[in-house]
Amino acid sequence: MAILSKTKPHDRILVALDTPDVDRAVALSQALAGQVGGIKLGLEFFNANGPQGVRDVAQAASESAPTPLFLDLKFHDIPNTVAGAVRSVMPLAPAILNVHASGGSTMMAAALDTATTEAARLGIVRPMLIAVTVLTSLDDGDLAAVGQATPARDQVLRLAALTQKAGLDGVVCSSQEIAAIRAECGPDFKLIVPGIRPAGAALGDQKRVMTPKQAIAQGADYLVIGRPITGADDPAAAAAAIAAEVDA
Ligand code: C5P
Repeated sequence: MAILSKTKPHDRILVALDTPDVDRAVALSQALAGQVGGIKLGLEFFNANGPQGVRDVAQAASESAPTPLFLDLKFHDIPNTVAGAVRSVMPLAPAILNVHASGGSTMMAAALDTATTEAARLGIVRPMLIAVTVLTSLDDGDLAAVGQATPARDQVLRLAALTQKAGLDGVVCSSQEIAAIRAECGPDFKLIVPGIRPAGAALGDQKRVMTPKQAIAQGADYLVIGRPITGADDPAAAAAAIAAEVDA
């Protein structure tokens, strides 16, 4: 299994391979091996191709350079079911796995316990276990509509603290939340940040963005970057340019 690193600037980049197409994901991961810190496969890919698709991409990526896998499946169910889901994906040896913090601390603890037990049984390193706090697609009005009167920002901090208390390693957060969570949860809590755009890049559907350099300076550990890399004519060159920006 490939383990996350933070020694080189490109290690900070986790490339989002948002496609249902195995061949495209394999081609991108081969082109980007050694140029990024890891690959992220999420619900679109997993629901189209299942564990075997994940194995195919992870193996292709790691043929030329060890490439950690972020399995972005955002588990959210009762503790027993989430524990079972974690157990089911552990043979894929993900470097990062995530759950929804709003599933509660018992659910998060069950995920952590199962990841720890299964890692020992399989003889692999336990994945970094990360929680999603409040989806960035939800604003205060959306939260109020589901009976959550707390402003989104306060809810993010509350769930980040709950995540830390449950023993998980960190959270996925927007660039706007990095500084506040860092202050609340300390230097060792891992912050994984999407919504990153190199200076001058197309925003796509992302509204609140930061450059790679700004996000790292604010305290991000890893950057999730999709289209600025995967949509480039030369994805490897785009990743290298972002790494250079991180390093500058
Ligand atoms: O292409 P782009 O760089 O916008 O891709 C960002 C990735 O991060 C996508 O996989 C997206 O689902 C994910 N993400 C996000 N915003 C969040 C959480 C995850 O863009 N708040």
